[in-house]
Amino acid sequence: MLLAIETSCDETGVALFSEKGNLIKHLLYSQVALHSPFGGIVPEIASRKQLEVLSPLIKKLVEETKISIQEIKGVCVTFGPGLIGSILVGVSLAKALCFALKIPLFAVDHLQAHLFSIFLEREVKFPYIGLLVSGGHTALFLVNSWEDYKLLGHTRDDAAGEAFDKVAKLLNLSYPGGPIISKLAEKGNRNAISFPRPLLEEDTFDFSFSGLKTAVLNYLKTNPQYKIEDVCASFEEAVCEVLIEKTLRAGEKLNISRIVVVGGVASNQRLRKSFAEKAQQKGVEVYFPSPEFCTDNAAMVGIVGYYKWKNGLYDTLEKEPYARSIF
Ligand code: KG4
Ligand code: ZN
Repeated sequence: MLLAIETSCDETGVALFSEKGNLIKHLLYSQVALHSPFGGIVPEIASRKQLEVLSPLIKKLVEETKISIQEIKGVCVTFGPGLIGSILVGVSLAKALCFALKIPLFAVDHLQAHLFSIFLEREVKFPYIGLLVSGGHTALFLVNSWEDYKLLGHTRDDAAGEAFDKVAKLLNLSYPGGPIISKLAEKGNRNAISFPRPLLEEDTFDFSFSGLKTAVLNYLKTNPQYKIEDVCASFEEAVCEVLIEKTLRAGEKLNISRIVVVGGVASNQRLRKSFAEKAQQKGVEVYFPSPEFCTDNAAMVGIVGYYKWKNGLYDTLEKEPYARSIF
């Protein structure tokens, strides 16, 4: 049995994997309600809550699966990037467990965990283009194997999820903004307002979303009688179009016809539908994890940890966690 832990931000995730690599159970504690009044995540609150929640959540997991702690043969944990205070909670507990039980530790990168989260539900042939879209990251990767994945481009400013959250704030909607904007967008006209498609025409794999947010702000100022559904629909359309076009173009350039879309924003219904349609037109396969595995969770940490365990890729207890992306 392998135990996986994810505490890189405001979600506390724990999971158990069998020695055959099957996910036995995973549990998630979300702090969303706690941070909602602030319109974003407050790092100090997040780490304190992680400390309070993590041990009881592991206890619950062990009790519900009726395993004994001695059956755990290794611990996989997110080492970064993310909020360092939150990460330290998971890493410290994982190291303590490994020391006490004399079992190996497996350090998992949070972006790596997202990129391979698709394997929780299906096999995908390598190579593929991985689009990671969340509140903290928007990046394109070329994924050649479990150990070989290269960054092709990333956002120069805001992440796509962050743009959803910031636009929601401008519209006096609550946090997290993505699901709320998406719901309102269903009733709006996607062509009502022509918001910019940042960096779409440029020959780069990088993204930029802060200009789009400013365009929304300017529109709201100059059109005080705005229709909120149209703003949400037109904004969502601009984000989806940029994400889809850039990813398809990366596939074309590198001659790869498989795409995997992961991270919190990958649960956006419009993105899923438009991506599937446009990919099909181009003869490209596109895969999304179930929404349950798009958001931060420990199951995706476990799937990478299992690979490391099977291949003897152990980490030492001296290994340090990190806040910034290593890519
Ligand atoms: O992956 P995630 O749970 O956390 C990290 O950022 O790592 O992603 C959260 C982000 C938030 O910015 C949230 O607004 C966005 O994902 N999100 C969505 C949707 N669901 C969550 N954005 C657009 N549409 C959604 N349905
Ligand atoms: Zn994440």
